[in-house]
This record gives sequence, structure tokens and C-alpha cells, in this order.
Amino acid sequence: MFGRKLEVNKLKSWKHLEKCYKKFCKTEMKEMFAKDPQRAEKYSIKLENMFFDYSKNRINDRIKNALLMLAKERKVDEKIHAMFEGEKINQTEKRAVLHVALRNRSNSPIYVDGKNVMPNINEVLAKMRKFSEAVRLGKFTGHTGKKLINIVNIGIGGSDLGPKMACEALRRYWAKDIKCYFISNIDGTACSEVLNKINPEETLFIVCSKTFTTIETLTNAKTCRKWLVDALGEHAVSKHFVAVSTNAKEVEKFGIDVENMFEFWDFVGGRYSMWSAIGLSIAIAVGMDNFDKMLDGAHTMDMHFKNTDFSQNIPVMMALLEIWYRNFFKFANTAVIPYDQYLQYVPAYLQQLVMESNGKSVNNEEKFVKYDTSPVLFGGAGTDVQHSFFQMIHQGTSIVPCDFIIPAISHNEIGDHHEILIANVLAQGEALMRGKTSTEAYEEMIKAGKSKEDAVALKKYKTFSGNRPSNTFVFKKMDPFALGMLIAAYEHKTFVEGIIWNIDSFDQMGVELGKQMALSILPELQNNASNIQHDSSTENLIKLVKDLRK
Ligand code: F6P
Repeated sequence: MFGRKLEVNKLKSWKHLEKCYKKFCKTEMKEMFAKDPQRAEKYSIKLENMFFDYSKNRINDRIKNALLMLAKERKVDEKIHAMFEGEKINQTEKRAVLHVALRNRSNSPIYVDGKNVMPNINEVLAKMRKFSEAVRLGKFTGHTGKKLINIVNIGIGGSDLGPKMACEALRRYWAKDIKCYFISNIDGTACSEVLNKINPEETLFIVCSKTFTTIETLTNAKTCRKWLVDALGEHAVSKHFVAVSTNAKEVEKFGIDVENMFEFWDFVGGRYSMWSAIGLSIAIAVGMDNFDKMLDGAHTMDMHFKNTDFSQNIPVMMALLEIWYRNFFKFANTAVIPYDQYLQYVPAYLQQLVMESNGKSVNNEEKFVKYDTSPVLFGGAGTDVQHSFFQMIHQGTSIVPCDFIIPAISHNEIGDHHEILIANVLAQGEALMRGKTSTEAYEEMIKAGKSKEDAVALKKYKTFSGNRPSNTFVFKKMDPFALGMLIAAYEHKTFVEGIIWNIDSFDQMGVELGKQMALSILPELQNNASNIQHDSSTENLIKLVKDLRK
């Protein structure tokens, strides 16, 4: 839809960035900080209660301008506009990409194929409000009249990670008597561990699947349905099972009344779906008013993204920095480290968002790309990860740009825990940027009473190269609005990167091959004949597992 273009790495701005890289790749951030007392102010952006500091990056004005030129040459503004207008920017699947419509709080019309999508979205939001309130107030009860206090989300990928991440992030907003559980993995352990903890009379299952054909979700849902029917009988199903899907036919086939189905649409990608009825578990746990606040936060970020000059645009700057590191420095990894226990699932959520969206090697003109695309994203909650992978982040041979996320106020202000937590995250950013020379290390050891001999022997081990980049997000408190802003910022960052790399960030064809092959191996494990020829390793492994299971 965007026509044939010059390859990205042939653009003038790309070439200019290559020159910038050669000229500035060794420039030390600590020197740039020393020279410019305004650096922190200059390279930071404030939006509502969110503060984004990107000053600890290996950039100067020239590099920033070159990156902004790249965004201009790639016509990022036109593509953002196209998304908000409902154009079919998911070109391989010929679909519009409208997670922004799910949180379009202005309710301005958005048209897909000539039809305004907002009335349907509002209808489902109203249905979610009615149902979640009825469950929370005990007006919609289980088959035996008991309040539904166990909410079990059955789904996988985007139908699991978003609700799971957001429910955990907003745990302090849960209704006191409600508990949320998530079953995603096909491993029977996932089902058993949840079912062992709950009483069927008090349990609501929400089966979330965009396609309603995903084997993991359907197998888990069947097991849970049987468990419920064994305990309460077939008539109980309508009081204990609801579905969220785009596929009414399959929902009905599975045995869930379409009356109990919450609809969403093919213009919502799985990994962008927590704002739709896929977020029903969030709405039940925290209440629809709080769910709405999360949508408000995301909408605020949407408007910022759509309307703000790129030089002051949080998602655009996040994306450009990552492009700078991925394509010019060739950094292959990135880490996201929230210093908030409730945000512990954010890295797992972002892994799908970023790597399923941009882990591609064919561009929008059906050509293999000649440059790198998605980095590997990993992370975990600070301070835990400081005692696991941070050794590598500080002294490893690969440089890993980090995003730190900090709420200034904790939901659990106990003693000085939160100040210690914040001191730690700020120290990480500063240490990564500044590093420590061998002379500094030596002097420090001598001061601490080490012998000269020991200090000489150890000084190299205690040297930190520094000049390692990080972004820092500070929020006042991690409330539903802030969470909405944060997640929407990462969604848009991912989109901008996809535009620059000229790939479709909204399909996920790479997941198919493994799925297809699992279907061919299954009959062999179940002793049903199959003519499929595998490689000798796979053949041996099939035989070994079968022998062990005898
Ligand atoms: O893993 C591939 C994928 O299609 C994801 O994009 C999606 O989030 C997940 O499977 C679940 O799909 P569904 O919601 O259709 O069950």
C-alpha cells in the first residue's frame, strides 16, 4: 500500500547515520554530561504523570536530528495517520490495525470498509461493564447461587499475557474477595495447579481466543469444562463459562452459548488485545471504572503519539534510539527492568509484543531485508535481576541497552524499602553510564585497606567500561492510567520500528511452522500410524519418549 521504495539502508539519512556512527561511536556519555549541564533536561520528555529520561544514551543533537530525518524519510507520520484512519496497514493479512480504536475515548468515528467501528466497540465495553459489575456484586452467580470469586482466564499469547500482566500490575486494585488465575500452557500442570486450588461452584472461566482454534486454549478449556461438568452437571456451563473471541461459530461448536460471548474484531491483533474484551478478567478484578482509566491512559499516549512533533514524541524517540543501537551499533539485545514487583510480568508481555511484531526478515515489498530487525528482549523485576543477569549488563562483552521503570510512590510503603529500591535503580543507570576506570578501581581498593599487590592484581576485574545506555521512565504511582500510558508507549514504539524496518508488525507467520509440525508428531506419539519422515534426531527422540512413557 505504500508503494515501492528505496531500501531502508540505502536512504540518505541511513547513510548519514552510518557516518555519525563512525564519528561518534566512541564518544563517552560521561563527557557529554560534563560538557552540557542541560543534557538531562534536553533529552527528557514529560507527559502527564510520566517522565521519560533518555539522556543516558549515546546521542548528541546531530545524531538525534539524523534519526529524526530517518523517521521523515520513512514517512512515519503518514503511516501513523494511516493506522489511526483505519487503513489496512497489516498488508499480509489485509487488515486494519485498530487497537487505538478500543481506547478511543473521544469516540470520534473510525471507519473500516466504510463502517464506523466505534458503535460496536462501545457496545462491547457496555456489555463488559454490565457483566463485570454483576459478577463483582454477586448478582451474576454460579449455578448453585454462590458468588463467583475465582476468575480463571484460559488463553495463550496475546489472549493471556496482556490480562495476566495487567491484573498483576493492578493487584492492589482488585476487589477484596476476587482472585484471578491464568491457564495458558498446554502442560497439564498449568491446569491442575489452578483447578486444585479452586471450588467449581465459585469459579468463572473466561475462554479467550481470537481465533478459537488454538490447540492449547481449546484443550485447556475442554479439561476445565469437564472438571466443572463432573462437579456440577452440564446445566452449570452457562453460569461458569464465557468466551471472548472473533469466532462465534467455533465458540458455539465448543459448547459456549454465544449469549455468553464477548466479541472483538480482526482489526485487533492478539498481542494488542488487552484493551478489548480480552481484558475482561482485568475489568472483573479491578472494576470497569479502573479499566476505563487504563483506556484513558492509553488514549492519552495515543494522542501524544499522533499529534506531537517527533523530537518530543516518547514512542518515536524510544524507537529511534533502538534503531540507532540495533542497526548501527549492532546491539542484539535489550532489557526492560521495572522496579516494581507488580510489574513483574511486563518483560514477558513485551517479549511477545516486540519479538512477535518485529521478528521478521521479509519486508513489505516481499524482499529479504539486508539489515537487522527486532532485538532480543528480556528482563525481570529489579532488584531481583541485579543479582542474576546484571553482571553481564555491567561487564559482559555485549552491550544491552536497558529501560528502567520506576514508580516514585509504592503501593506498599513499608519502612525505607522503596527508597532503597529507588536508590538501586538510579545507581544502576549511573553506573552503566559512568563505569569505573582501572585507576579508580585501584585507588578505591587502596583506600579500603587492600595491599598494593592485591589492588594491582584485581584492578582489571573491577573495571567497568561504562558508556552503556539506558532509558528511565518515572511515574508518580503505578495506577491504571499510568499502566495504560506505559503499555501504549511500547506498542507505538514497536510500530514505529516496524515502519522504519519496512516490515509488517502485525502478522505472526513465524509461529505457524512449529504448530504444523507438532500436529504431525502428535499421532506418532499416540501410536497412530504416520508416514512422515523426520530427521534421525527427531525420530530418536520420538522413540525415546515413547519408550519412557510405556
Ligand atoms: O502465537 C501466535 C498467536 O497467534 C498470537 O499472536 C496470539 O496472541 C496467540 O497465538 C493466541 O491466539 P488466539 O487468541 O487466536 O488463541
